[in-house]
Amino acid sequence: METILIVDDEKNYPRILSAVLQEEGYETLTAQSGKEALGKLCDSDVDLVLTDMKMPSMDGIELLEKIKEIDPELPVIMMTAYGTVEKAVEAMQKGAYNYILKPFDNDSLVLFVKKAVAMYSVIKENRRLRDAVSSQYCFDNIIGKSKAMQSVFEIIRKVAPASANVLIEGESGTGKELVAKSIHFNSPRKDNAFVAVNCSALSETLLESELFGHEKGAFTGAISMKKGRFELADRGTLFLDEIGELSQSLQVKLLRVIKEKEFERVGGVKPVQVNIRLIAATNKDLKKEMEAGRFREDLFYRLNVIRIQLPPLRNRKEDIRLLTQHFISKYAHERTSQVPVKGVDQEVQRLFYEYGWPGNVREFENVIERAMVLCPFDTIQMSDLPKDFTDNAYNRLQIEDIAHDAPLYKTLSMVEKKMIERALKMTNNVQSQAAEILGIGKSGLNQKIKKFKLDVGSKN
Ligand SMILES: Nc1ncnc2c1ncn2[C@@H]1O[C@H](COP(=O)(O)OP(=O)(O)OP(=O)(O)O)[C@@H](O)[C@H]1O
Ligand SMILES: [Mg+2]
Repeated sequence: METILIVDDEKNYPRILSAVLQEEGYETLTAQSGKEALGKLCDSDVDLVLTDMKMPSMDGIELLEKIKEIDPELPVIMMTAYGTVEKAVEAMQKGAYNYILKPFDNDSLVLFVKKAVAMYSVIKENRRLRDAVSSQYCFDNIIGKSKAMQSVFEIIRKVAPASANVLIEGESGTGKELVAKSIHFNSPRKDNAFVAVNCSALSETLLESELFGHEKGAFTGAISMKKGRFELADRGTLFLDEIGELSQSLQVKLLRVIKEKEFERVGGVKPVQVNIRLIAATNKDLKKEMEAGRFREDLFYRLNVIRIQLPPLRNRKEDIRLLTQHFISKYAHERTSQVPVKGVDQEVQRLFYEYGWPGNVREFENVIERAMVLCPFDTIQMSDLPKDFTDNAYNRLQIEDIAHDAPLYKTLSMVEKKMIERALKMTNNVQSQAAEILGIGKSGLNQKIKKFKLDVGSKN
């Protein structure tokens, strides 16, 4: 129930207003001075302030200014008598939500109040989401309220202070590098380097010299000594991405560094000592790779001291709303339109829930980033999403992709709409042919076209 604070130095007025507003289902508080009003504001959750303009000691304008210091978004409606209209204009400039001229009829007051309270409830909901994101649902920019992500946060908190090796498993785009960095930056090694190497990006020989460095003259082109990533990561963290792609011979060499904490540069004989924490990541099931003989067992167990499994986005759809808000704020600065984006519309929300997100959070982030640039209004609509994404999303729709708690009728109606659109496209909007393809009558098709508000041009 929303609470309205009524401020007036007169006694009767607030009493009457309270009765009217309580009748409408609001809770009311009253105050006879600005000072008393400020006290009540700090003690209770107020959704709207209705204040008289002329009051002894602190007048309405002064009170408004003080309220704006406490909560700049809390709506304040000024009640003003004939003769103080200039003051009302000043109040509007200072951020009042609106003013109402005394004497007023109850209906117009209620209308004003309803609008203001509705606006503030949207603001409060956004705040709630923002706060949630900034506290327990966010760890170093990693967002997630799902159980799976919450336990990932828990593991990061526990393992970061230690030096144990970590293996992160997850599909592409699930945030493996983000987690690796978070472990590093929450560890005592945070002031030293975080060095990342992608093991699948280079050929075996290049990767070897990249990892271990080389001595001058070690091979053609080695014109000077070069330190490898192991040395650069000394006292810090080395992140080996796509570890499943490491060749057998490099697996042996890596094992030796882990065991003995030393290695030789390519073409060198002098051992180099390093103190590193190793975090490895893979989008394969490394245990299976090991069982299939493609990954050394001894190395697997050395890497797999602590294992973090990042779930694909399609298995933690409860994170989608938070991620949406997170990326909307992240890309707010890229907007060309002046209108801030509040969220996504219902159809988009549904598609987000139903889509399988093969590219996981990375794909999700790209979709929002792009929409933020294109969206002209305060809500992201289907037309702001990349066409290949929307097409793809529907074409790929599989039963596994549909949230287990998606309402049946909504999902069916989405599929129905898509099938009708496709049939109309195939028949160049000739409805009799489209109806035949779909196996329904022409009038039935016509009704559905109206229901889904499909644009069929002038043909029928
Ligand atoms: N839980 C999350 N919260 C917020 N942003 C995320 C989350 N997970 C991933 N991201 C964002 O998604 C993008 C991809 O994340 P990252 O590079 O860590 O994924 P990855 O698992 O290493 O992917 P790949 O296997 O393709 O290298 C990054 O921009 C990252 O910031
Ligand atoms: Mg990565």
